[in-house]
Amino acid sequence: MAEVTKESASAEEQDEASEAQIAVHWREEESYQPPAGFKEQANANDQAILESFAAERFPDSFVEYAELLTWDRKWDTVLDTSSPPFFKWFVGGRLNACANCVDRHLETRADKNALIWVPEPEDAEIQEITYAELHRRVNEFAALVQDFSGLQAGDRITFHMPMVPELPVSMLACARLGVVHSEVFGGFSGAACGQRMADAKSTVLVTIDTYYRNGTLIDHKVKADEAIEEARKEGIEVEKVLVWRRIPGEYHSESPMVEGRDFFVDELLEKYSGQQVEPVSLSATDTLFLMYTSGTTGRPKGAQHAVGGYLAYVTGTSKYYQDIHPDDTYWCFADIGWITGHSYIVYGPLALGTASVMYEGVPTYPDPGRPWRIAEKLGVNIFHTAPTTIRMLRKLGPDEPAKYDYHFKTMTTVGEPIEPDVWRWYYTVVGKGEAAITDTWWMTETGGFLGSTLPGLQPMKPGSCGPAALGIQLVIYDENGEEIRRGSGKAGYICVRNPWPGRMLTVWGQDQRFIDTYYARFNKDSSSKDWRDWPFMCGDGAVEAQDGYFRILGRIDDVINVAGHRLGTKELESAAIEVEEVAEAAAVPVVDEIRGKIVEMYIALKPGYEASDEVAQKVSQTIVKDIGAIARPKNVWIVPDMPKTRSGKIMRRVIAGISNFADVGDTSTLANPEVVDSIREQVQSEKRARGDVPQDLSAKEKDEIAAFGSGSE
Ligand code: WT7
Repeated sequence: MAEVTKESASAEEQDEASEAQIAVHWREEESYQPPAGFKEQANANDQAILESFAAERFPDSFVEYAELLTWDRKWDTVLDTSSPPFFKWFVGGRLNACANCVDRHLETRADKNALIWVPEPEDAEIQEITYAELHRRVNEFAALVQDFSGLQAGDRITFHMPMVPELPVSMLACARLGVVHSEVFGGFSGAACGQRMADAKSTVLVTIDTYYRNGTLIDHKVKADEAIEEARKEGIEVEKVLVWRRIPGEYHSESPMVEGRDFFVDELLEKYSGQQVEPVSLSATDTLFLMYTSGTTGRPKGAQHAVGGYLAYVTGTSKYYQDIHPDDTYWCFADIGWITGHSYIVYGPLALGTASVMYEGVPTYPDPGRPWRIAEKLGVNIFHTAPTTIRMLRKLGPDEPAKYDYHFKTMTTVGEPIEPDVWRWYYTVVGKGEAAITDTWWMTETGGFLGSTLPGLQPMKPGSCGPAALGIQLVIYDENGEEIRRGSGKAGYICVRNPWPGRMLTVWGQDQRFIDTYYARFNKDSSSKDWRDWPFMCGDGAVEAQDGYFRILGRIDDVINVAGHRLGTKELESAAIEVEEVAEAAAVPVVDEIRGKIVEMYIALKPGYEASDEVAQKVSQTIVKDIGAIARPKNVWIVPDMPKTRSGKIMRRVIAGISNFADVGDTSTLANPEVVDSIREQVQSEKRARGDVPQDLSAKEKDEIAAFGSGSE
């Protein structure tokens, strides 16, 4: 078993610690074997698959993924590397993503479910949409987009949609036409949507009047008006707003329908009833969609994904890592407004012809048993969600899973490093000890998984995503661009050495930014035509243990540098969460005259526990015990709730702003903006009383605080 160093470095050693030798404080964890019985039925159950994706077989190994698709014309070149880093996959090939996700299943699976939609109100009827029905709906909406909106292949269209089946229908309809969709997460503000519309130069918006969230109908259409206003400020005039209606025949919004601009989709669709539209045969390197993601500042960053490479990659990884078979009932409990939903609710599972479950609402509505009731009722056998959801369900309903009769064969965690303690709850309580867990590490830009275990073949290790995914060559560099010895347990910048089909083509409209953000740092010769000179920088810190498993330490900008000693926020939070009373933890830096930065912890308790100095003490002691005195938090704030994004990520920059008496930045995309003021009041009044108010921060310090954790928003 690999030893990951548990540092107890002296002050001098800390001062010397170069970035190349970032000490990592995680304990090594015990491995778990895939459950017996799983292996026989697994899509990847033979070690030979590892050989077929070995580095020597690159790039042809990825042909196996491409062959899972139906092509109108086969490619001439597997990988074109003539213009690094703008690598192109399956060049010369032609296909249509919608035809692959819908039409090709009609012959064998027309009456099988494609989508199963669970509305939030529990007494509402679940919608089962067969492949035949999906085909009808997609064709009708495609006819509308083509005829009424007048869009053609290559044009952009923006969606601002929640978790309703009309979202995948709209996506697939556009994919059918080659119209590039750009879905903005429904929980984002109208302004955020408008900025993305302007960036994409998109003049058609698809939205909905309302949807259910936590038992109430949210007014969503008002956001369209804000989006249009914002886009106009940036010089884009939105011409048409297509408004789906959540409840047929009703309109639930305060926003008036604007004559000549806003149209109800159900009314328009009458004209296109029963119409069919031929899927447009696209080049493999044409664009399927844009997915905006957070950069540090400035212009939004639209990850531009390709029809062929992307679809091949998500289909292949869905098959081997999600272990999807056509007859499975697969539930990825994420939002389609994020890349996870695009790749692993819509495109990957549907390309494989399976039934993909979508749930409209929040995990704990009306109570934290809801997800398990859904799983039981629908016979879900593959479950996929994020640590934040797992923590929430553990906090509010630790005993709920045992009450329901469902059986998962495999479960996924995605989005952030999972604390080993939370992992074990997921495994034992949610999975009932029967399911393999895949911890899938990747990002918006990468299209699909980069690191994970093959569930039938490779043991799982809590807190580590596993080895590199099939065909992916991971490498960790130190800050001078030297490779860190494999298996050394030393932290550095994790990169992908080779091109892979799921990688985005570029940042929409910003080729130079694409190079600068992902390649400039570790490319030593910008004129090189050899792909080996172009490692892709993922933006995460990571360590590789002796067994070749990677542990992701979080975004590089999530690291707290205390006296030259870098502490991963996740390590701190994971330690804090070991304390029995603690449900959630967030670590932030506060500016410190002597040590540069020092850690502050924010804690939310499980129900039934009271805030007390003892709990704060225990958190502090556990951190000191697990990580070392260097990490001792200056303060442990026990707060009623953390500021969170609608997708459940804790907004560390907001609490970092509060701790430092600095600007908290834009809070409009928070799910619970109201907690910001109460936390500020609690923390700052206490600090004032102690005379602990920092001197004016330098510009660099302000920037650091404002950017803190921004990569993972
Ligand atoms: C960042 C990417 C991946 C789709 C959803 C998030 C973090 C993601 C893991 C994981 C540790 C993870 C990384 C990454 N991350 N998955 N399994 N273990 N960290 O996409 O918003 O582009 O965020 O999420 O820090 O860089 P994203």
